[in-house]
Amino acid sequence: MRELVLLMAILSCLTHAVVSLNCTKDLHHLADKQMYFIICTTTHAVPVRDERICGSCKSQNDEMVASYNGLMQNCSDLYKDVNRLNIVITTHELLEGLWNKAYCENCFESGGHLWNNFTVLYNSFLACNRSTNAKDICTECKSHYLNMNDFYTDLDKSQKGHICFDIQDIMNSTRVLWSKQLKCCQREVKMTTFLTSVGVVALLPLLLFYGTAIVLTKRREARHGLLNDQEPELDAPSTSQLITAAILSTPSESTAEVTANTEKIAKLLTRPDASSDSSDSDDEPAIKPKNN
Ligand SMILES: *[C@@H]1O[C@H](CO)[C@@H](O)[C@H](O)[C@H]1NC(C)=O
Ligand SMILES: *[C@@H]1O[C@H](CO)[C@@H](O)[C@H](O)[C@H]1NC(C)=O
Ligand SMILES: *[C@@H]1O[C@H](CO)[C@@H](O)[C@H](O)[C@H]1NC(C)=O
Ligand SMILES: *[C@@H]1O[C@H](CO)[C@@H](O)[C@H](O)[C@H]1NC(C)=O
Ligand SMILES: *[C@@H]1O[C@H](CO)[C@@H](O)[C@H](O)[C@H]1NC(C)=O
Repeated sequence: MRELVLLMAILSCLTHAVVSLNCTKDLHHLADKQMYFIICTTTHAVPVRDERICGSCKSQNDEMVASYNGLMQNCSDLYKDVNRLNIVITTHELLEGLWNKAYCENCFESGGHLWNNFTVLYNSFLACNRSTNAKDICTECKSHYLNMNDFYTDLDKSQKGHICFDIQDIMNSTRVLWSKQLKCCQREVKMTTFLTSVGVVALLPLLLFYGTAIVLTKRREARHGLLNDQEPELDAPSTSQLITAAILSTPSESTAEVTANTEKIAKLLTRPDASSDSSDSDDEPAIKPKNN
């Protein structure tokens, strides 16, 4: 009986030893996978022959994750919450954090459709860029560039900015190539400025004409409003009456005066002696037609 207990204890110890041996083995396995992951991501910090971090390090990431999950399944007692650093967990969170920060999984969602469709657009732009003279690229490849850019802009909206880093990086470098290196945006801006200027210059006479017309109409309306305000005092019929009266009175007055003056001169010429007295008396008939 005592022998049996002893045997059980020995067996238990052996099993434990085997388990911890397996856990150590698994831990080393995880460390290897982490190493390969770091080598891959670090060497793809910038694209290597058009190979990028998400597309290139997918298998390294997946293997590392599987190894970690297995270790946590069988040996979590040994490595989880064992000390302040919790190295296994902390390291894994750091490395997975890098992968998640790059939104790499976005590249592989729904069978990698996003990535494939974007790549088709990028390749067509590249083909155009390659087969066109540098000076014609802005015009010749514009539609290719816009297709790609629009796809990205829509994607940015639908994914709320969580776009796979490979796509982000390609789009950024293509935008830099387009606007900084090829200076296609500057030409566009120049062209727009030019067209706007031409439009403004062409429309200027029209604008001036209508502007003046509007100002004049406004002013006339304002003046008309003023007259209307003073209507009881300065009535239009009274003005016209005054004018008519003036027109009617002026010729009669002048003809009368002219006749009076001629008569006066004639009398003065004929009778040089009686000058002052006669003139006073002779003025009366001249005034009379004026009062009519
Ligand atoms: C330990 O590892 C070996 C192979 O490496 C495996 O066959 C065995 O089932 C493992 N034992 C335990 C308890 O996980
Ligand atoms: C975990 O242990 C089970 C059996 O206990 C074994 O089948 C499995 O392979 C182990 N996983 C890893 C990753 O070692
Ligand atoms: C990718 O293109 C295919 C075929 O043109 C289309 O059916 C699919 O909806 C597109 N997917 C995305 C995410 O744009
Ligand atoms: C696109 O074309 C320009 C001018 O020919 C060249 O300098 C540039 O390297 C090309 N870019 C790519 C990504 O092919
Ligand atoms: C885009 O690329 C430029 C230069 O290549 C870099 O300075 C900039 O930080 C990048 N922007 C993003 C959002 O990646």
